[in-house]
Amino acid sequence: MTRWIGGPEITPQDRLADEHVLGHCTSRPTLDLGCGPGRFTASLRQRGFPVLGVDSSTAAVEMTRGRGGTAIRRDLFAALPAEGSWEQILLTDGNIGIGGNPVRTLKRAAELLAHGGVVIVEIESAAIAQCHELLRWETEQYLGHWFPWSRVGAGSLGDIARAAGFLVTHVVDVHARVIAVLTGAARSGVDR
Ligand SMILES: C[S@@+](CC[C@H](N)C(=O)[O-])C[C@H]1O[C@@H](n2cnc3c(N)ncnc32)[C@H](O)[C@@H]1O
Repeated sequence: MTRWIGGPEITPQDRLADEHVLGHCTSRPTLDLGCGPGRFTASLRQRGFPVLGVDSSTAAVEMTRGRGGTAIRRDLFAALPAEGSWEQILLTDGNIGIGGNPVRTLKRAAELLAHGGVVIVEIESAAIAQCHELLRWETEQYLGHWFPWSRVGAGSLGDIARAAGFLVTHVVDVHARVIAVLTGAARSGVDR
């Protein structure tokens, strides 16, 4: 939760990994899909970059707005503003697994992306094989609904990306958080 919320409490390792994600973002428009409490949306906004957070959770959107980011409450598979014109799309903290079908999620990202745009994903290490599961939030006071989720390890990313029309151009492990960059397959010559 500390990492998810962000702020001064996060570890130096997580700060470095977050900075690595942010380092891939330029001043071109960024869509932060499943933005959660808005660590990345707010940081990019603070840098003066155009960025929109999207999250299906009201609480997440309120937190993002509360830290100065612009965000809308929306399912990422529903209609979104400026489809086809986003230059950078973030799917951090395993969000490629939203909906339990990473290829479908990446194909949705492809619809939203401008020609030549990139998708920045945060995945699991190569030690994790791809797996599909049902998750729910559980606390002492709250029991959420089950929802489908996929975990994607670095070893599976190439095949998943290819199936969605992307190539993996960059993968780096920053203190056990794996960050990768994908570009449209027809526009890139590198696949690692
Ligand atoms: C694992 S958190 C990641 C949060 C943030 N990107 C980060 O790096 O900390 C996943 C977020 O995706 C949101 N989410 C899940 N399914 C979604 C959907 N279909 N459309 C939009 N947001 C979704 C959840 O509400 C949650 O805030």
